Amino acid sequence: MLTINNTRKNSLIHSPGGEALRLLVNGSCDAGVNNTVAQATFNEKKWVWVEDKKAGYVAGYITRDMGEEVEVRFNDHSTRIININETDKMNPPKFDKVEDMADLTFLNEASVIHNLRLRYLSNLIYTYSGLFLVAVNPYQNFPIYTDEIIRYYKNGRHHEMPPHIYAIADSAYNEMLQERQNQSILITGESGAGKTENTKRVIQYIAAIAGDSSNTKILGKLELQILQTNPILEAFGNALTIRNNNSSRFGKFIRIEFNSSGQIVGANIERYLFEKSRVTYQTSEERNFHIFYQLIRGASPQIKSKLLLNGSLNDYRFTKNSLKDIEGVNDSIEYQALVDAMNVVGISEDEQIDLFRVIAAVLHLGNIEIASSRNDQAQIYETSASENVCNLLSIPVSDFIKGLLNPQVKAGREWVTQARTKEQVLYSIEALAKSLYERSFFALVDRINKAIYRPNNKSQFIGVLDIAGFEIFKVNSFEQFCINYTNEKLQQFFNHHMFVLEQEEYKLEGIEWKFIDFGLDLQPTIDLIEKANPIGILSCLDEECVMPKATDKTFVEKLHSLWKDKSSKYQVPRFQEGFILQHYAAKVEYKTSGWLDKNKDPLNENITKLLARSSNQYISSLFSDYLGDITDNDKKNRVKRGVFRTVGRHHKDQLHSLMQQLYSTHPHFVRCIVPNEEKCPGKIDVPLVLDQLRCNGVLEGIRICRAGFPNRLSFDEFRRRYEILTSGIIPKGFINSRDAAEKLLDAFKLDNSQYRIGTSKIFFRSGVLAELEEIRDTKLFQLFADFQAHCRGWLSRKAHIKRNERLRAALVIQRNIRAINALKANPWWKLFLKVRPTLNCTKVEELKRQLRLKDERIRELEEKLLQESKTRKKLETLNSKLEIEKTNLENLLQNEHSLVINKEEILKQTLQREIDLEDEVKGLNDELNELEGKFEQLSKSKKLLENQMKENGFLNNNNSQTPFLAQQDLKNNNHKEIIKVEHSNIGFVNQIHILLNQIHLLINQVHILLNQIRIYI
Ligand SMILES: Nc1ncnc2c1ncn2[C@@H]1O[C@H](COP(=O)(O)OP(=O)(O)OP(=O)(O)O)[C@@H](O)[C@H]1O
Ligand SMILES: [Mg+2]
Repeated sequence: MLTINNTRKNSLIHSPGGEALRLLVNGSCDAGVNNTVAQATFNEKKWVWVEDKKAGYVAGYITRDMGEEVEVRFNDHSTRIININETDKMNPPKFDKVEDMADLTFLNEASVIHNLRLRYLSNLIYTYSGLFLVAVNPYQNFPIYTDEIIRYYKNGRHHEMPPHIYAIADSAYNEMLQERQNQSILITGESGAGKTENTKRVIQYIAAIAGDSSNTKILGKLELQILQTNPILEAFGNALTIRNNNSSRFGKFIRIEFNSSGQIVGANIERYLFEKSRVTYQTSEERNFHIFYQLIRGASPQIKSKLLLNGSLNDYRFTKNSLKDIEGVNDSIEYQALVDAMNVVGISEDEQIDLFRVIAAVLHLGNIEIASSRNDQAQIYETSASENVCNLLSIPVSDFIKGLLNPQVKAGREWVTQARTKEQVLYSIEALAKSLYERSFFALVDRINKAIYRPNNKSQFIGVLDIAGFEIFKVNSFEQFCINYTNEKLQQFFNHHMFVLEQEEYKLEGIEWKFIDFGLDLQPTIDLIEKANPIGILSCLDEECVMPKATDKTFVEKLHSLWKDKSSKYQVPRFQEGFILQHYAAKVEYKTSGWLDKNKDPLNENITKLLARSSNQYISSLFSDYLGDITDNDKKNRVKRGVFRTVGRHHKDQLHSLMQQLYSTHPHFVRCIVPNEEKCPGKIDVPLVLDQLRCNGVLEGIRICRAGFPNRLSFDEFRRRYEILTSGIIPKGFINSRDAAEKLLDAFKLDNSQYRIGTSKIFFRSGVLAELEEIRDTKLFQLFADFQAHCRGWLSRKAHIKRNERLRAALVIQRNIRAINALKANPWWKLFLKVRPTLNCTKVEELKRQLRLKDERIRELEEKLLQESKTRKKLETLNSKLEIEKTNLENLLQNEHSLVINKEEILKQTLQREIDLEDEVKGLNDELNELEGKFEQLSKSKKLLENQMKENGFLNNNNSQTPFLAQQDLKNNNHKEIIKVEHSNIGFVNQIHILLNQIHLLINQVHILLNQIRIYI
């Protein structure tokens, strides 16, 4: 927790995609030597932060400690005497640019802002602060959102990744899959802080990883549609403001739904607090919603003529006073992008025309000129604009003008016609324009949802909330009240979540701790706003809206009477008509003028009823709630519905439903920060950032953290880190880390309230570890100084010995050189040198050398021989193996050969047998033929005999008569003879039949045999 793992960060930079990743971990890696030096310099003095109006906080060191007061010297060499409580302790340099500010041992505002500043100036825009991801707007495009980075976060291990919005999206996605729980990512911050940019990054990341698992580039149709909803919503819901060129003028909660295997199955967008007043009024430095400029500059002449738009931006009241251009943005190109996006989402051309029809109608509404007659009544002399409006909205012009100038209103039971003043008519035209635009925007969101939302009970979701953060302006009105109320609830949600997590951890560790739900801190303010009993601000406003004679003044008076001195969160301002509310971030003074109207949002019902009956289906659907006359019965409901549908009430209900959803999710918190008001990269305005940190709850988070035991160390780590401070306390031999840690804590004599011992960790109050660290640093400093002295002594001694040896060696060399020089001068030595080559004894060396060479040659040859004999042996064994294999193969071949001969012999015999059998069959056939011939002959002779007998009257004939007895006898004799012959014939014939059958049988058998032989062959 305390150490910063620089090795990991360095290894990241050397990994693929290192260049882009450098921007994520940049700067944190220059620790090493510099850090050690910085640490040493830091240790020399007692550094503190002192608050400064201009710079936020300035660094200084204590030069004199006078108990309550201290003397602090600053970098500009000035000194000041300050109360010790006005200083904040500074973290040692090793904590510079920490990725999670919860790791800081001195957890104070000054340290937080210092860390954010250091990181921002090193182009590190994301930093964790406990549960928050703080994102500082870079106002430049860093390559930290590439596919490569997406892959890096998708495949990496969470706790090792540098802070990034992708890390948040990835953990939301994984936790959803693993814990089967819905997730939410709450992105808040001031206007221009980067909420929408980060929201887009979350959706981009999720669309990339939840689609194809292998390819982060190819998106499915639904993913593409979800991504394409953004340009549509931005065209209709965003505008140029002083703070942001592309400011979202509404809040949104985008729910991306997934099936159980983590694929996107749909999405739904909920919108909040739409700023419709922009439709009719913008300052000269701001613009209306982008769509007005895109349509006029980008639409084709055909579309424009259909919409009766033949003027430029300067020709329409609702755009002409605004700023027209945004630097670096081409409205025509944006228009094309919008149309393309609508096509992708599935909004048909007719639907697109309907949407544009409303834009054009709003523009024409602004151009209706109202004159005032003598008796102060409103008049319309020039009707072309009204005609355009009515044409586009498909309503009758005369009714429209009548409804504007002389509407019918109910007075008691009667309908009476009223005459309106110019101001009244202008007001109702503007109200109509705003309402028309707002309703069309809401219908557009519904239409988008229709395209991308596929409700499914089994799906899980990740919800991304992009909503304006806490706002405090010079004049705070109803809009700021609603936004701040929302943020109060969101902060309460955060506090509660943090409390739950802390509570869980403390419980898990078995720590005694009186739990405080910090969410409850905010409850009184929330009650003051939303409670019905005692009646809160919103309910009181609703009540006043239905009171016949109520005004803004009566409303605020009623509020004062209800809450003055009854709630510590409510105050009455000195001068203005309004009230002061204590929010968690600050006290805000609200001015209540116009609140009743803003809450009621009244419309001219004569016109809205006309619109509800428009022949254009889209227009009539926008005002369908105004269909039908108001009967007395309805009226009751209507009044009730009126109360129900006030803006405040509607927002309260919407917020309630949002909070319900959020409480059912696992939340992730992102806080966006505007670094400076000039939208300038690389510049950080400390007081401005501090203000935001306060407003968006980061400092509140730190406060909660400090109330508990924010620094935690495992027993083992605690022992490893601080054993050095108390030598001899822990006995030698094995002792478990818990006992060891307890012994150390005893030795440090720490106050019991400063720490708690859990089951696996020790929990410390903020700052305790810092003190231990300081002592440790001093001890280490001392140890290292001793060690260095030791090393330096050893090195110097070694160098000294070396120097002495060198000296001795130099003396020896000198002596030898002198001796050689003396020898060279000796005449006998000269003579010897001349004679030496001629001496036999000098050749010995040459012979020795040759002998040595020969020996070497012999050795080489022997080695070679040995090598070759080894190779030969190997080859011989291989040869014998191959021989054996060869004989085996030959035997196999022989066997196969004899088998073939046998088979051939059998075949031959079989063929011969076949021929014999065929011959036999032939013989039998012949015999059969012969027998059949004989049979035929016999049959013929039988027939002949029968005929003869008939002729001779031996055979019985029904018609013949027997004339004589003698003839009868003869006949009997012959008859017997014939019967005998006949019998013998019949017997013979039967025998032949039997024979024939047998022959047939035989032939069949032969055939079967032949077939078998064939198959066998
Ligand atoms: N991470 C970022 N990288 C680069 N530019 C950024 C980043 N975040 C914000 N910006 C720049 O700041 C501008 C404002 O950001 P964005 O529109 O997200 O602010 P916002 O908080 O949504 O403001 P609003 O409340 O007015 O809608 C962007 O148009 C862009 O130029
Ligand atoms: Mg935005």
